[in-house]
Amino acid sequence: MKDKLRVGVIGAGRWAGMAHIPGWKRSPLVDLAVICDIDRDKAEARAKEFNVPGVETDYQKVLSSGDIDVVDIVTSGDNHEPLTFAALEAGKHVLVEKPVCHDYKDVWRAHALATSKKLKTKVGLTFRYAPAMQYMYDLIQDGFVGQPYIFNGWEQNSQWIDPAGPSRFARQDTGNAPIKVGSLEGYGAPTIDISLWVVRSRLTSVVGMLKNFVPKRKNPDGNWVRTNVDDGDIYIGEYANGAICSMQSSYVTVGNYPGIEARVYGSKGALICRLVEEFGECQVLRSATPEAVEFVPVEVPASYFPVGYAKGESWRSLFYANLVHNFAKEITDGGEANQGNFAQSARVQEIINAVERSHRERRWVDLPLDPGVGD
Ligand SMILES: NC(=O)c1ccc[n+]([C@@H]2O[C@H](COP(=O)([O-])OP(=O)(O)OC[C@H]3O[C@@H](n4cnc5c(N)ncnc54)[C@H](O)[C@@H]3O)[C@@H](O)[C@H]2O)c1
Repeated sequence: MKDKLRVGVIGAGRWAGMAHIPGWKRSPLVDLAVICDIDRDKAEARAKEFNVPGVETDYQKVLSSGDIDVVDIVTSGDNHEPLTFAALEAGKHVLVEKPVCHDYKDVWRAHALATSKKLKTKVGLTFRYAPAMQYMYDLIQDGFVGQPYIFNGWEQNSQWIDPAGPSRFARQDTGNAPIKVGSLEGYGAPTIDISLWVVRSRLTSVVGMLKNFVPKRKNPDGNWVRTNVDDGDIYIGEYANGAICSMQSSYVTVGNYPGIEARVYGSKGALICRLVEEFGECQVLRSATPEAVEFVPVEVPASYFPVGYAKGESWRSLFYANLVHNFAKEITDGGEANQGNFAQSARVQEIINAVERSHRERRWVDLPLDPGVGD
């Protein structure tokens, strides 16, 4: 084993610059070796900004390099799936932005390929890596809430509230086509992940709806186009362990980024983790017990924060520093640990597929969708 993992990042856009690359640069376990983007200027600019030695425009060159251990796919658009399969085929550990694939069965295929090659995987399920969320999980593991009864989760913010503002949802005119999944997959996924993770059970049935609140958007040419995409959604669900949940997401509702809340109410206690940048803080954890029902702030121990943390740091770099360092540690430690991997992402994607089906058929949908698929 080399001293440090050699990492190649594919996609040098906004999110790579704000979250992924700063995270890799901060992990003592990693050498960030190459930045690849089809746009050479972007790749070169990012490499210069973060002092990365290699620049590529063809991702195949990154994959065929025997010198790269980990590939990080942070591209836009619909190419996560082919890039992921190609990277796994090339024998690389893979971090990829969500969604890995739109159909959960394809995510299970990617998971099977990774495990057959003894490769570790991770998906950009950013918010489980918030120090406060990791601590909340450990408190639940230690029995703080007892038996979880109810989980409420949401991600909602104002990111695309302005119909005339630039938006990736305005690139296509959907015409009269039925509503497309949008917010549920792009914004709901990390909270769905947290709901499964902290309740520690599978969902057995869901009923939900997708909604389009902003019917038209201005496209990059200045024309108004029909954008029949879910920009708000809600579902409720039942877990195998008897718990129930309510979940919602939207990117056109007023509130600051990232706009996450996860609330767990159980037989012995309740915990609320709020990830919203407000008044210089990006995370707040609060707890209550039957003896002291008023929620009080919980201090998150220093060990949950990444190297180089400073109070007031943006959630983007803070949570991602934890995510990529955790991945690097899982790979270098070599054990079984691999949180937020493709198997978990497949379970999340199955719920997204089930809620979409529930909306289209206006009924409860039972899980698993296809008995025999998955674990
Ligand atoms: N997990 C989170 O919290 C979170 C937050 C923001 C964005 N994202 C996700 O991150 C991804 C990137 O978003 P962004 O805002 O940075 O987009 P962006 O458009 O700014 O950047 C994407 C880059 O990928 C490059 N690219 C596309 N195909 C490529 C290929 N085949 N080879 C090399 N480069 C390629 C593009 O040229 C572009 O520079 C998206 O999937 C987005 O949904 C996740």
